[in-house]
Amino acid sequence: MYRAIYAVLLRRMPAEAAHRAGFWLIRAAAAVPGVALALRRVLAPRDPALPVRALGLDFPGPLGLAAGFDKDGEGVIGLAALGFGFVEVGTVTARPQPGNPKPRMFRFPAERALVNRMGFNNHGAAALAARLRALRGHRGYRGYRPIVGVNIGKTKVVPEEGAIDDYVTSARLVADVADYVVVNVSSPNTPGLRDLQSVDKLRPLLAAVRSALDQASPRRRVPLLVKIAPDLADADVDAVADLALDLGLDGIIATNTTISRDGLRDSAAVADAGPGGLSGAPLKARALSVLRRLHARAGDRLVLIAAGGIGTADDAHDRLAAGATLLQAYTAFIYEGPCWPGRVQRGLAARIRAAQPV
Ligand SMILES: Cc1cc2nc3c(=O)[nH]c(=O)nc-3n(C[C@H](O)[C@H](O)[C@H](O)COP(=O)(O)O)c2cc1C
Repeated sequence: MYRAIYAVLLRRMPAEAAHRAGFWLIRAAAAVPGVALALRRVLAPRDPALPVRALGLDFPGPLGLAAGFDKDGEGVIGLAALGFGFVEVGTVTARPQPGNPKPRMFRFPAERALVNRMGFNNHGAAALAARLRALRGHRGYRGYRPIVGVNIGKTKVVPEEGAIDDYVTSARLVADVADYVVVNVSSPNTPGLRDLQSVDKLRPLLAAVRSALDQASPRRRVPLLVKIAPDLADADVDAVADLALDLGLDGIIATNTTISRDGLRDSAAVADAGPGGLSGAPLKARALSVLRRLHARAGDRLVLIAAGGIGTADDAHDRLAAGATLLQAYTAFIYEGPCWPGRVQRGLAARIRAAQPV
């Protein structure tokens, strides 16, 4: 059904408009009383091989929705009902901002890939916090609370000297509504952001966010993770792992999109799309290799969340085998549609079971 709608309608629309239409449908369906519950019954992970305990939380399944799809936390109920074990909202910034001019999202269907330069278009951390708080009090929400991580980034107009204060502002605003917080220093679409991945800049930033979360949420320690780029040199991946261990961080998300265009064949379409981050299948090999490197360095002392080119149950299983505790995807969901998360989790359960000794 989704494939037919995609082929006839969504594929002909500009990528961002198709995203908005698809997301609107998910939210509209979930707003009809009883529908989210019914979807959840059919699609949400229930296989006993799937639940994961990590970050002090009980995940119904390891596959979550990666940041960027629901930047403002507008559809977490519907998205979780489709079978995602958790939803990471954001990236939000301390101040609301419009993002880059359109068009800013481009499809490469032959390679199951996207290029985007959205530039953190979002309503701001305060608006997100208010929305998630309202959701917690919502009647239909009782007894069913999807795990929601909040991904924070830097406001574009804030210069690098103000970056720490900017992240700290967001961290304080979202501390009490986030099941975990992610410091995003790896988007290629905010000038200078990825420079914050160097350890000398990252250390004070992460330390300040950690203490802001502790102050803002004294009774519940909010887990803190950092999300890194696949374009880091191996030595820098090791350095971030060492830093995360040193600072007592809870985990690392590997990876964000890449600035490389390897794996895209249509060079004219690549040139037309222009700058931005590449996601989807072409990212798979590098994201897996960064994950392996992190696991070799940190073992099980960090929760590793694998993202980048996960498209099938085999991909998901490979990441778990390489040391990931949790998984995230975005691009495959766009191409495969609303039944995809449930399908992958079911396939994954079968693989986990097959790999278990009898
Ligand atoms: C259109 C689009 C927007 C994204 N926005 C964000 C974002 O705001 N923050 C972030 O940390 N990652 C963002 N990402 C990166 C994804 O969260 C994910 O790390 C990346 O796409 C790799 O996973 P995938 O290959 O399954 O898409 C975005 C990705 C896409 C395709």
